[in-house]
Amino acid sequence: MRETVIVLDFGGQYNQLIARRVRDLRVFAQILPYNTPLEQIQKIEPIGIILTGGPRTVTDADAPKCDKALFEAGIPILGICYGSQLMGSMLGGSVKRAQSREYGKTDISYDVSCPLFAGIKPQSTCWMSHTYYVDKQPQGFVIAASTQSCAIAAFADTNKKLYGVQFHPEVVHTPYGNEILKNFLYGICGASGSWTMENYVETAVADIRRRVGDGRVLLGLSGGVDSSVCAVLLDKAIGSRLTCIFVDHGLLRKDEARQVEETFSGAYHMNLVCVDASDRFLEPLKGISEPERKRKIIGEVFIRVFEEQAAKIGAVDFLAQGTIYPDIIESGTGDAAVIKSHHNVGGLPKNVDFRDIIEPLRELFKDEVRALGETLGMPHHMVWRQPFPGPGLAIRIIGDVTREKVATLQLADHIFREEIANEGLDSQIWQYFAVLTDMRSVGVMGDERTYDHTIALRAVTSVDGMTADWAHIPHDVLGRISSRIVNEVAGVNRIVYDITSKPPATIEWE
Ligand code: XMP
Repeated sequence: MRETVIVLDFGGQYNQLIARRVRDLRVFAQILPYNTPLEQIQKIEPIGIILTGGPRTVTDADAPKCDKALFEAGIPILGICYGSQLMGSMLGGSVKRAQSREYGKTDISYDVSCPLFAGIKPQSTCWMSHTYYVDKQPQGFVIAASTQSCAIAAFADTNKKLYGVQFHPEVVHTPYGNEILKNFLYGICGASGSWTMENYVETAVADIRRRVGDGRVLLGLSGGVDSSVCAVLLDKAIGSRLTCIFVDHGLLRKDEARQVEETFSGAYHMNLVCVDASDRFLEPLKGISEPERKRKIIGEVFIRVFEEQAAKIGAVDFLAQGTIYPDIIESGTGDAAVIKSHHNVGGLPKNVDFRDIIEPLRELFKDEVRALGETLGMPHHMVWRQPFPGPGLAIRIIGDVTREKVATLQLADHIFREEIANEGLDSQIWQYFAVLTDMRSVGVMGDERTYDHTIALRAVTSVDGMTADWAHIPHDVLGRISSRIVNEVAGVNRIVYDITSKPPATIEWE
């Protein structure tokens, strides 16, 4: 059984972060809904459980609660924020509303004789974000940390290995947060720290071999990080019994299709079917300007082309998907507003003859997928490739899409990327690209009046693409990029730089 900590999700904003911190400390963390029955949790044989924060109020009649039997199961538990209040109130303590919300960096005194706080400085700061607090700890518990306005900032029953903290150890603003989580995992739960990418490769390869047997697997390869790592992992496990289909919709960046082909059929010697389907995509996109229509058309044509190629290959046992862990957690909540449809391939193909789905990356966070790629020895540029939307350049061309516009944008974008790389800025900027606007304006070149297109440059810093800030690229670098693009790209006479953050803008222009 794999060494696992269960993170019971009460809907707080830091829930995925908790799981990532635990995994960074080399313990596998699995996020489950807060009301998962004890029986189901026990099947996993977790070494510990973390109850997360959440937006609700513990004293409400319909407050989300975990299975009470959890506290008697002999499994170490750490409650954070809402999780600690819930533990406090379910075990007979009391929870009260504070006069005002306590938010931000707060001075804290730790009782360092408590195993949770072993080895840290008794006086430090922590990150608080709460309105309710535990004002009387349950019987058998002692107070283990306090702040000025929160006398019970942490409480513990060391015999039962139950701990509650009002503050957030998972955020970087709590200086000893990592040590506290480490104390919980290693000192209290007795973890051995077996979650490493080397171990993961070994078990994943063995799992894939066991599941696939001598069957065949088909994978849609986009050249993005997830599908590329998925391909290399599957290749390691089953070699020539993997076939990849790469659909080139003609909306990729300059030279990208060729690079995918060279890497996977060349360097990796994989069975790769490359389909140049640009005509099939450009035809139905003719005259279409509405972004969601473009996405829909591309999604539908993609499936059709994929299915045709799959039919040529014939029946396979498994269809592989590059699904990663956040996809699974996020699709579980189902209440996020659809701002853009991010389903780049329009769902699962219906007419492909396969028996089952295989998702070798479904347990991994994005940074773990990259770490896996590195462990597998994949080239740096593939592992650290910036995100690229499934509909490709079609959503970076404002207005209708034509082959000429694609070529113009490819060239401008290539120059932008080349200059950023030359400056060594590529590792600091999360995503950067050119946009071909549908605006034309007057310019002068030589003695000639021009009336040409405007290219917008977009570059953002971000952690996960959910929020982003515009990147502060030095002005002289922007100046150089601008003059190169207007000089080298026909039909472009003006360059603008996008200085909006997300929100209120989005990263892509469509
Ligand atoms: P936005 O523009 O919503 O982008 O701020 C957030 C991230 O998602 C990418 N993106 C897409 N990816 N299909 C995709 O596969 C899409 O239709 C799509 N639209 C946006 C975007 O590049 C950024 O990384």
